[in-house]
Order: sequence, then C-alpha cells, then structure tokens
Amino acid sequence: MLIVFIGPPGAGKGTQCRRLVELLDIPHLSTGEMLRSVMDQDSALSRYVASYINAGKLAPDHLVMRIVSQKVKSPDCSNGALFDGFPRTMVQAQMLDDLLTELKRPLDIVLELQVPDDVLITRLLKRAKTDGRADDNDATIRERLRVFHEQTKPLIQYYASQGKLRSINGTHSEHEVFDAIRKALPVAT
Ligand code: AP5
Ligand code: MG
Repeated sequence: MLIVFIGPPGAGKGTQCRRLVELLDIPHLSTGEMLRSVMDQDSALSRYVASYINAGKLAPDHLVMRIVSQKVKSPDCSNGALFDGFPRTMVQAQMLDDLLTELKRPLDIVLELQVPDDVLITRLLKRAKTDGRADDNDATIRERLRVFHEQTKPLIQYYASQGKLRSINGTHSEHEVFDAIRKALPVAT
C-alpha cells in the first residue's frame, strides 16, 4: 500500500507513521528525517540542506525527488511505503504522480492530519525543550507554518479532486487519532 501523510509541522505525522509502519509492515519514508541525516554529515551538500531546514524553508524539489525516487524503486518498498511530509509542493506531487505512473503503482490514500496553528505552536515549543531539533524555535516554527499554508495546503484540494483524500482530526489523543486513521484505511486492519 502507498500512503501519503500530509499535515502541518507538529500535526503528528511522525508519531502516527511510526505506529502505522508497525501495523502495515511497510517502510516509513520521512523526507525530513532523510534531509536531517544528510545535514549530519560534513559536506557542501549538508551545509546546503541546512540552509533550508534551519530557515524553515523547503529544500529544492529536484533534490527531494532524487532522494525519494531512489528509495521508492528499492526492493524495500516493493510492498508499499508511507510518505511522511512528502510531497510538499505541487511540483513534488506531480513528480510523484509521474514516478508512480512509470512504476504502475498508484497511490492508495492520502491522509491529512488537521490541527490548528495555536496547538501546533504549543506542541513544537514543548518538543523544543527536549528534542533539540534546530528548526524548533519560535521564529522558524512560524516560518514552517507559513510555508505549509502557502505551498503544501494546495495539495489537499489536488488529492481531494482525485478522490484519494481522507481528513483526520489530529487534535485528539495519539491513540484516538490512530484509531481514526485505521478506520480511514482502504483495507481492514
Ligand atoms: P519534517 O521533518 O517533515 O518536519 P515538519 O513537517 O515540520 O513536522 P514535524 O516533524 O515537526 O512534526 P510531525 O507532524 O512529524 O509531528 P510529530 O509526530 O513529530 O520537515 C522538516 C524540514 O525538512 C522542513 O521544514 C523542510 O525544510 C525539510 N523538508 C522535509 N520534507 C520536505 C519536502 N518534501 N520538500 C522540501 N523540504 C522538505 O509530533 C510533534 C510533537 O507533538 C511531538 O512532540 C509529539 O510527541 C507531539 N504529538 C504528536 N501527536 C500528538 C497528539 N495527538 N496530542 C498531543 N501531542 C502530540
Ligand atoms: Mg515529523
């Protein structure tokens, strides 16, 4: 099964994907995690990636797409994959459609986690005290939210018009959100 997770920063994409990969036994492809692992190296590419992430801006589409397409074509993903935080722009969504058409593997479902901005900011400022993510500070969180509304939100309509979108209220407890996600899946779990 191929699943896309869309949601603003702090919506719970990572939290819910970690639960879902266990349930469905498919790989978790988080572009944020992949880019952060590039950032951990000491290279010109890592400094290039950091300049986007630390400013709360999106990394260039072609770079993200190169990383994702390698993963999707690997044998690990032969039974499906869970895309966390990808696609994030209309260009990425169209590139993903083209890739999946080429592979003859259509997307099964797009899950959107809905959480209001004030709740997101509270969650991320709380996480900032424990996790040490470079982009969890007030100014960068606000920029990540702005970028989500401007560049990622249009994808919701794009996938709704394909009949693939399922919107989930992400403000409830982690457990309740996971239950709602399970019910939205196109297969019984
Ligand atoms: P990415 O790593 O994807 O971060 P994000 O979208 O900003 O979201 P987060 O990971 O902060 O939140 P989440 O939704 O995963 O929530 P989580 O489960 O952690 O991207 C980072 C950066 O990488 C981007 O800004 C960009 O620069 C770059 N990037 C990534 N993908 C890209 C792409 N495709 N194209 C271009 N650039 C890209 O939960 C958050 C907190 O809330 C946690 O503390 C958690 O414990 C808590 N929480 C979770 N669920 C609940 C709940 N139900 N109730 C209460 N608390 C909860
Ligand atoms: Mg995440």
